[in-house]
Amino acid sequence: MAKSVEEILDGIDLYAEDQREHLLDAAAAARTRCPIPHSAADGGYHVLTRYEDVRAVCADAETFSSAQPSLRGVPVRVIPIDTDPPEHREYRKILNPFFTRAYLLRYEEQLREIAHTAVAGFLDKGEFEVVGDFAVPFSAGSLAKIVFATDDTDLVDRGVAAAKQAAVASTPEAFQTLAGLAVEALAQAAPDDGVLGALVTARIDGRELTMEERLGIVTTLFLGGLDTTRGVLTNIAYHLATRPDVEPILRRPDWWRRELDEFLRLETTVAFMARTATRDTELGGTAVKTGDRLAVFFAAADRDPARFDRPDELIFDREPNPHLAFGLGIHRCLGLHFARLQLAIAFEELLARATDFRLKPGAEIPRQVGLSLNSPYRLELTFRRR
Ligand code: HEM
Repeated sequence: MAKSVEEILDGIDLYAEDQREHLLDAAAAARTRCPIPHSAADGGYHVLTRYEDVRAVCADAETFSSAQPSLRGVPVRVIPIDTDPPEHREYRKILNPFFTRAYLLRYEEQLREIAHTAVAGFLDKGEFEVVGDFAVPFSAGSLAKIVFATDDTDLVDRGVAAAKQAAVASTPEAFQTLAGLAVEALAQAAPDDGVLGALVTARIDGRELTMEERLGIVTTLFLGGLDTTRGVLTNIAYHLATRPDVEPILRRPDWWRRELDEFLRLETTVAFMARTATRDTELGGTAVKTGDRLAVFFAAADRDPARFDRPDELIFDREPNPHLAFGLGIHRCLGLHFARLQLAIAFEELLARATDFRLKPGAEIPRQVGLSLNSPYRLELTFRRR
């Protein structure tokens, strides 16, 4: 039974299934009464519901460490998410060249092919289940091909369930599974090919990366690249099927430069991450002690009316749209150009062959708890073939 706003504010817990439905309403209520509520869950943490507080924390990596980036703890390394300055910069220097738009565009045709194949699988049926038939095969297939430079999609397919489990409940087992897959991915990596190859040849201050560092990076690529894009793609598909103005927007050739940001803001699919205070400080009137844990609640910040007018509505010509869906500061998403390119291609390929999307009558739409807060994990749509 879903808890009410008042019940949630009595004991907020960002992973609780029974708080999911009204969690953002509770954050909205908290913002006007007690904008940094304290949660007793998972060892205790402050919940940042205001845009300004989330921005301030993400912008100050010295005071707010990422060493433990999940509220529930992570039993394996997840580099660079779990690093602080100055070493964080060294890892980003190695990774950034493989995630620029210019670099990724060389894989455009391969991405199209993956999307095309997925669409071909359901085109004759006039209906599809977005997550299993499209979003997962496409995001996992493109991560395998472009990031892991392998045709062995089985490897990444096995990562899908673990990445979801890490997002939903942040269980130690899920992270262990991903770390195990990282061992396999690294063993297959060609030394002269792509980002995994670069991990073999990269140097920091003249030394090679340790095996722990390489595995930590590959684990993060699984984690960052699967449930995230899957969640956004599914959220957009939901709007496509429920609002008549969305299909014309997705048919604009450059929608991924502007309108996509509004989908990203409203749904903010990486809903929260964690930080730890490295010194006593103060945030918007609340005392924060050394060692205190903070939930940077991106999804709440992106609905803060102090920053966004009519925050609960999709307003496609919002300008500017400084949403935090990709984070902010030094940890801002490494894969954001990849995600944009994937989403642009996925919908271009889908809409080239299908139109008039509708929710399948009577089908339930279960929604995810945890990091991919509220994104459907099952979404059945009908369509007409073009
Ligand atoms: C729409 C899809 C995506 C969303 C919404 C998203 C969101 C985010 C957010 C909010 C952060 C900041 C975490 C923090 O501050 O602690 C982040 C970091 C990161 N993301 Fe993404 N992400 C997406 C796709 C991807 C993809 C496709 C990849 C890679 C294949 C990726 C890799 C990473 C990595 C490696 C980091 C850590 C960066 C660092 O610590 O410097 N992400 N992402």
